[in-house]
Amino acid sequence: MAENKLEKIVSLAKRRGFIYPASEIYGGLAGFWDFGPYGAELAHNIKDLWWHHFVKSHENMYGIATTTIMPEAVWRASGHLEGFSDPMVECNKCKKRFKADRLEDEAKCPECGGKLGDKKTFNLLFPVETGSVAGATSKAYLRGEVAQGMFVNFKNVLDTTRATIPFGIAQIGKAYRNEIAPRDFLFRVREFDLMEFEYFCRESEWEEHFEKWRKEMWSWVEKVGIDKAMVNELEVPEGERAHYSKRTIDFEFDYLFGKRELYGLAYRTDYDLSRHMKESGIDLRYTDPQNGEKFIPHVVEPTFGLGRTILAVLVSAYTEDELGGEPRTYLKLLPKIAPVKVAVFPLVKNKPNLVEKAREIYKNLREQIDAVEFDDNGNIGKRYRRQDEIGTPWCITIDYQTLEDDTVTVRDRDSGEQVRKKAGELDRWFKDMLS
Ligand code: GAP
Repeated sequence: MAENKLEKIVSLAKRRGFIYPASEIYGGLAGFWDFGPYGAELAHNIKDLWWHHFVKSHENMYGIATTTIMPEAVWRASGHLEGFSDPMVECNKCKKRFKADRLEDEAKCPECGGKLGDKKTFNLLFPVETGSVAGATSKAYLRGEVAQGMFVNFKNVLDTTRATIPFGIAQIGKAYRNEIAPRDFLFRVREFDLMEFEYFCRESEWEEHFEKWRKEMWSWVEKVGIDKAMVNELEVPEGERAHYSKRTIDFEFDYLFGKRELYGLAYRTDYDLSRHMKESGIDLRYTDPQNGEKFIPHVVEPTFGLGRTILAVLVSAYTEDELGGEPRTYLKLLPKIAPVKVAVFPLVKNKPNLVEKAREIYKNLREQIDAVEFDDNGNIGKRYRRQDEIGTPWCITIDYQTLEDDTVTVRDRDSGEQVRKKAGELDRWFKDMLS
């Protein structure tokens, strides 16, 4: 039943232009997905909302954008060369590889029943060579987490801003992990966007900041439209935490295939800055402007995968109901993140005065709200259903009455109810609804 719902979501996402298998015309590539026009808009809206929630609305937060390829020394210092790995087993018969900790029977292949080989450690970083001269290339890695961009720029940010502790450095960008067994749609992929920040503070204050960001993470869950009832916290026990963390809380989501990690909140201590200080030989200590005291700040890190956010949003928003005696499917997306906010339709396509009036209203609205779509294709019922599946909160129809009294119908996605509104008042009304 739940798996069936996931299949329906994957199918809707493809059919309506949200998410496609990557490089599909060549058969795809396991663990990679492309975003279509509506998926890209949804992703942009979520990133904008996150940036606003965690960066712009805090005085002491600095947003940066760093490279996705970083030299080997970074990953040696960060501990990822040694510690960023999963236990892997390979089937002797079909040669498929599996994450050992996800298998029910560690001896038998879940795909073909063949005998599984010994458990090995598999590093998830993608190596690359930079430079063009044979024999003089440098080994580097696609970043496995964006956090290292913040640590290696800690001194730059301190030197070029007015930052004083406590403060955060934030970033949104791609991360790459050569996952052994990518699966479950956007849940476990090999290339994904991360939205995360490092919050630098005094060691004595880390618990206070940990609690503050924990609350902010819950308010984010609500703001982005993830069903709170499907989210729970998990205190990650020692031995299961990442190599850099002294305390981690996972925010788990009840995906349709089980409860798994959605977000993480970690206390990274002074691990990263200390290691980079040692590896680079650069002094990364902070100097207290009041008393000149020098120390290595400690770090609290909230982290958010964009793909998992999108998956949790889609699972939360996907709704089936009955409207006008017909079954229908719609995405109950919050207007703030919906890829299309308003769709404008002339009742029919072959009446030039209706089409002209609809185009005029569409043009006016586009100047106020940037996500407006025009559609005159097919019958009006089908156009509503299409917008319902895209998650468009409102549809405007220009009909014969519009030509007489300059009113239009505005249809609400969730209730399907229509009300008449003055065309000249639409922009203000939508602006209020979207604010
Ligand atoms: N800087 C901390 C860090 O990278 P992480 O728990 O390894 O922590 C952060 O990853 C977030 O990235 C996770 O909470 C999850 O949302 C997302 N994530 C991790 N691996 C992923 C994968 N293979 N596919 C999609 N999202 C992933």
